[in-house]
Amino acid sequence: MVDIKRVDAIIDKWDTDPEFVIEMMQDVQDEFRHIPRKALERISDRTGKPRGKLFHIATFYKAFSLEPRGEKEIQVCMGTACYVKGAPDVLAALERELGIRSGETTPDGKFTLTEVRCVGACGLAPVVTIGDEVIGGVKSNEVPRIMKRFREEGRE
Ligand code: FES
Repeated sequence: MVDIKRVDAIIDKWDTDPEFVIEMMQDVQDEFRHIPRKALERISDRTGKPRGKLFHIATFYKAFSLEPRGEKEIQVCMGTACYVKGAPDVLAALERELGIRSGETTPDGKFTLTEVRCVGACGLAPVVTIGDEVIGGVKSNEVPRIMKRFREEGRE
């Protein structure tokens, strides 16, 4: 359930100004880890920005998600350097390990798996980022060990 009071507090913070709907959506995304439909409608109703326009923004910008995202985002770089050094195998290993497909979130809400283009660390290819951490030279057979570490960190 979306706590509409929290959404209202965000809208108030930006003075209900339609010029700042992207900032409002960013705050909602940060707080709820996605943009719930009810929040989108509330921003629309209170700022007067058409719902369709907000929906378009939510789907256009990669930073926004209409579906709940996991606590940690796992991004597999599929840029050329990473691709030729085995990124597809790493992605497949992560899908197996997490039991989800690319673009999905684990049922426990811990991890979202996505593919990205070059993250600018080609010298470390293939690269996976988990939360803020950049992991280079990842081999598919190391994936279970890497994920074990992150699962344990999550329990601390
Ligand atoms: S291609 Fe993966 S970091 Fe550049």
